[in-house]
Amino acid sequence: MSSKVYINGDFIDSELAKISVFDRGFLFSDSVYEVVHVDTNKLFLFEEHLIRLRRSLCELKIQEPQVDFLKICKELLLLNPIDYGGIYIQVTRGEQKQRSHFWNNKNLTPNLIAFAQAGMRPESKALKAITYPDLRWGRCDIKSTSLLANVLAREEAALKSADEALLINLEGFVNEGSSTNVFIFKKGKVYTPPLSENILAGVTRNFCIETLKEMGIICLEQKILKEDLFLAEEVWITSSTKDVLPIGYIDDQDLNFKAPNSLWEKLYEKFKQRKIKALN
Ligand SMILES: Cc1ncc(COP(=O)(O)O)c(C=O)c1O
Repeated sequence: MSSKVYINGDFIDSELAKISVFDRGFLFSDSVYEVVHVDTNKLFLFEEHLIRLRRSLCELKIQEPQVDFLKICKELLLLNPIDYGGIYIQVTRGEQKQRSHFWNNKNLTPNLIAFAQAGMRPESKALKAITYPDLRWGRCDIKSTSLLANVLAREEAALKSADEALLINLEGFVNEGSSTNVFIFKKGKVYTPPLSENILAGVTRNFCIETLKEMGIICLEQKILKEDLFLAEEVWITSSTKDVLPIGYIDDQDLNFKAPNSLWEKLYEKFKQRKIKALN
């Protein structure tokens, strides 16, 4: 059965949705996106994603489509109900018939697509990760679709039967995962890399920080060295499709993570309670 997708004002069968080959999103990755998490066919932290989408558009000077994004997401969930997954929204700078790097004074009309995608509800089991050099550009705070370095890192993880690649910068610090933010727990405190142009301000990262605060756990936004990953008592990753999950192995090294009585277990319980309240 084909899914219904949204494209520039219409909800149509995915097979019928077409974008021009001259679209700058296709030719230059000149576009931004968001993935709004869906649980039991309800949206999670929609407003936070919309704020980040608007910021990404603004930073790249892409015109914001004048649409009701919430209405589009809700309509997609009526047409394609999903138990667990996300609504993917992408805005490109638009079609430019004469291919050229610059677009100024062309008054392009952005293309907007959105679709619902079901995923697997994450199993509460420790994941495997690899470390990998961070080969990305200097504005990873913008959620652009230029994801080639992330894709290559994640592919390398898959080749090594791992679930995620943790991206290490030239100075040896952990930035984030290929599609996740990173936390470690060490000597009673939690640490996560500070917001900067090197990482995405994850919506789940922020939700996790708030959850830890409610639990009375100190969470410091501080740089984390690659070595710290191996010295930590626990390492977690967060994202809209994974919630918060523990890492059990990095580069085939066993971190000796045991879920019972871990801080992760307590955090995830509280996270899920807060999440149920925030779904709409
Ligand atoms: C590079 C990167 N970092 C972090 C995240 C997690 O962000 P969020 O929690 O908003 O899904 C993502 C999500 O796609 C990502 O692509």
